[in-house]
Amino acid sequence: MVLVKPVIFVPLLTLVLSVVAEAGSCWKNTTCTGPENAAFPGVWEKNIYAPTSRQVSPQYILESTGARTDYKQGAGHNLLTGNGSQIVFDFGIEVGGIVTVNYAAPTAGVNLNLAFSEATNWIGENSDSSNGAFKDGDGYLSYDISTAGEGSYTMPGAKLRGGFRYLTIFLTAPNTTSDAILDITDINLDIGFLPTWSNLRAYQGYFHSNDELLNRIWYSGAYTIQTNMVPPDTGRQIPVVDYGWDNNATLGYGDTIIVDGAKRDRAVWPGDMGIAVPSTFITLGDLESLKNGLQIMYDTQASDGAFAESGPPLSQTGSDTYHMWSMIGTYNYVLYTNDTDFLQENWEGYQKAMDYIYAKVGTSGLLGVTGLRDWGRFWQGGNNSEAQMILYRTLETGAELAEWVGDTTGLSSSWTTRAQNLKVAVNADCYDDAYGAFRDNATATTTMHPQDANSMSLLFGVADQDRVQSISQRLTDNWVSIGAVAPELPENISPFISSFEIQGHFEAARPDRALDLIRRSWGWYINNPNGTGSTVIEGYLQNATFGYRGNDGYYYDASYVSHSHGWSSGPTSALINYILGLSVTGRVGSTWQLAPQFGDLTSVEGGFTTSLGHFQASWNRASSSSSTSSYELSFKVPDGTTGTVVLPAVDGGKTTLTMNGKVLEWGSDETKTISVTDGGSYQIIVRSA
Ligand SMILES: *[C@@H]1O[C@H](CO)[C@@H](O)[C@H](O)[C@H]1NC(C)=O
Ligand SMILES: *[C@@H]1O[C@H](CO)[C@@H](O)[C@H](O)[C@H]1NC(C)=O
Ligand SMILES: *[C@@H]1O[C@H](CO)[C@@H](O)[C@H](O)[C@H]1NC(C)=O
Ligand SMILES: *[C@@H]1O[C@H](CO)[C@@H](O)[C@H](O)[C@H]1NC(C)=O
Ligand SMILES: *[C@@H]1O[C@H](CO)[C@@H](O)[C@H](O)[C@H]1NC(C)=O
Ligand SMILES: *[C@@H]1O[C@H](CO)[C@@H](O)[C@H](O)[C@H]1NC(C)=O
Ligand SMILES: *[C@@H]1O[C@H](CO)[C@@H](O)[C@H](O)[C@H]1NC(C)=O
Ligand SMILES: *[C@@H]1O[C@H](CO)[C@@H](O)[C@H](O)[C@H]1NC(C)=O
Ligand SMILES: *[C@@H]1O[C@H](CO)[C@@H](O)[C@H](O)[C@H]1NC(C)=O
Repeated sequence: MVLVKPVIFVPLLTLVLSVVAEAGSCWKNTTCTGPENAAFPGVWEKNIYAPTSRQVSPQYILESTGARTDYKQGAGHNLLTGNGSQIVFDFGIEVGGIVTVNYAAPTAGVNLNLAFSEATNWIGENSDSSNGAFKDGDGYLSYDISTAGEGSYTMPGAKLRGGFRYLTIFLTAPNTTSDAILDITDINLDIGFLPTWSNLRAYQGYFHSNDELLNRIWYSGAYTIQTNMVPPDTGRQIPVVDYGWDNNATLGYGDTIIVDGAKRDRAVWPGDMGIAVPSTFITLGDLESLKNGLQIMYDTQASDGAFAESGPPLSQTGSDTYHMWSMIGTYNYVLYTNDTDFLQENWEGYQKAMDYIYAKVGTSGLLGVTGLRDWGRFWQGGNNSEAQMILYRTLETGAELAEWVGDTTGLSSSWTTRAQNLKVAVNADCYDDAYGAFRDNATATTTMHPQDANSMSLLFGVADQDRVQSISQRLTDNWVSIGAVAPELPENISPFISSFEIQGHFEAARPDRALDLIRRSWGWYINNPNGTGSTVIEGYLQNATFGYRGNDGYYYDASYVSHSHGWSSGPTSALINYILGLSVTGRVGSTWQLAPQFGDLTSVEGGFTTSLGHFQASWNRASSSSSTSSYELSFKVPDGTTGTVVLPAVDGGKTTLTMNGKVLEWGSDETKTISVTDGGSYQIIVRSA
């Protein structure tokens, strides 16, 4: 047979760059409930990674083999020539959803193939791994072009790819070999995350500072959060399929639900929410996905009161820590929304959950952990210190929930007393005086001092006051140039646990350490040319390679790591809550605190939104030295709210203070606390006299 080579390299269709004008669409038939506009427009919006439209195309061609292409910023040809020819398209940022490829095929009998990767490391004909079938990679999607001419291929819904940056399109021609030709004329991605938002850039919070690296890190956490809010019918299928992937499992209710990662697991994980939810509140200000995620945990609660470790269909069980994270998640959700109906409906389940976990506390006053699953660490079980810290937080937040729900049976004071007793027991039995930090558990011979328990002991206020500085110092023993190596998961750097650590250093009034760790760890990833350049990674190894839990025999190949994992977004909430210093202390911000920590920064501003309105603050100072120089602080909070401003004194002398032009007494204290009894705009100037 003689093949007549068609000439198709004429100005055919062009590949349209980045944005097809279709702003304003939500995912498929999802009702749009998200905000239409950003709450705080400004120059910082240039740092938002989210595209202006849900419909996007690749930004560049990274490389090609056996292909003629002059694709460049929006237009060009992509002629695949010969079996195995390929083009690697780069979306420039993490994306996820359903790809449509338009093509012109001069002959039938060829295959159009698609493979995906988040990192550059796994670009090729074999996608990076997302389904967890314990083999190398997910393979590729293949479409049989059985008729010549122009055509279009759209990935089936079940093959939605939740997270990737690179798309490799390659041609196979099992029956015609080298004469095969295929012109790729257009690629369009329908973004599948944050399904209820028509404007993916309509952030309800913002952060801006004089440090561009911190700004990029903040927005990478925010964008990661967006990619983790998914349509509830796009979860990973369990049991996992043998080849490829299926993301068509039902995770829960509603139009949108919070999962751990964009690519995987695509499941509800309450522990991850411990970090992801404060970041969601600070950035998106939309807690609908969280509500649906928590509700499925209540609806799948076991009759003995235990919550599952993860939502369906994964539905792993047997984790005391993740059980408690569902309870803390309940508190965070109600704190940010005051959704009293949700609390009332689930209050009975919450109390059962409290009874279930507290029954494991015995005469020693410590929790005896029997549900051993946890975030990935080793050595969980017994009187594990991390679990004690989480129980303390559970009891304290439970006491507040009991008040909010209007309990009159004394639960609030009973849980507060339990928290106080636990604090005494943990400090008595788990602390290693000789070393100056908490041991991994109450066993006196245990010599390991974990990152998780020590970080949480600072963040949750469990450590006795006179131990705080030592613990903060000891945590830095784990640091290497690219982050903190967790002793409880050797060789691994966990930006999840480091998200607790940075907050712990802030609580210890060591912003220098918190900023140092943020720059080392999150800075390493956001500047890594192999990464997504737009998100935060699940975990990595101390030898600066992508991988996680790689050495323990029960975890997968390195390409399984998620590069867009909300549990690693700690800096996003922490930079607002501690550096800018603005946080909510009462429901929906009815009470708040403003307590800036300057670190080495000179100007910072930011804000967030609740149902009461916008909360915004900014500060400026002349010097970046860590000793405090003169500064100005402005803030604006909604009417009817009350708050506390905690001001650091100017070093080296007497401090003068004016607020809205009025001089206030300072005295000689290192900080000055001001009670603000109503909303409005305030300007504060602090100088050395
Ligand atoms: C949207 O809803 C219509 C009517 O219910 C249905 O026919 C259509 O398939 C839906 N489209 C998508 C993309 O789900
Ligand atoms: C065609 O390409 C595929 C993928 O690159 C390769 O596995 C296969 O061996 C090639 N077939 C021939 C006949 O060259
Ligand atoms: C290649 O030929 C085989 C055998 O005839 C056929 O089954 C297959 O569908 C062909 N592949 C394509 C892409 O046409
Ligand atoms: C970065 O990716 C390239 C492939 O794109 C790989 O050769 C290299 O080893 C990777 N480096 C690291 C540190 O992962
Ligand atoms: C998911 O998709 C696969 C095809 O890839 C299909 O076999 C399966 O029935 C689907 N499951 C659900 C729950 O829709
Ligand atoms: C841990 O605490 C429980 C309850 O307080 C106690 O009964 C148990 O002996 C302790 N377990 C270990 C391994 O220390
Ligand atoms: C903590 O104590 C338990 C016994 O309850 C033990 O199995 C575990 O290995 C200890 N952890 C470490 C890090 O030694
Ligand atoms: C990095 O560490 C992992 C886990 O120990 C190991 O498997 C891998 O080979 C190491 N890579 C390099 C480049 O050292
Ligand atoms: C929270 O909601 C409850 C019940 O609707 C209401 O009584 C209370 O005032 C609200 N609190 C705040 C701070 O908005």
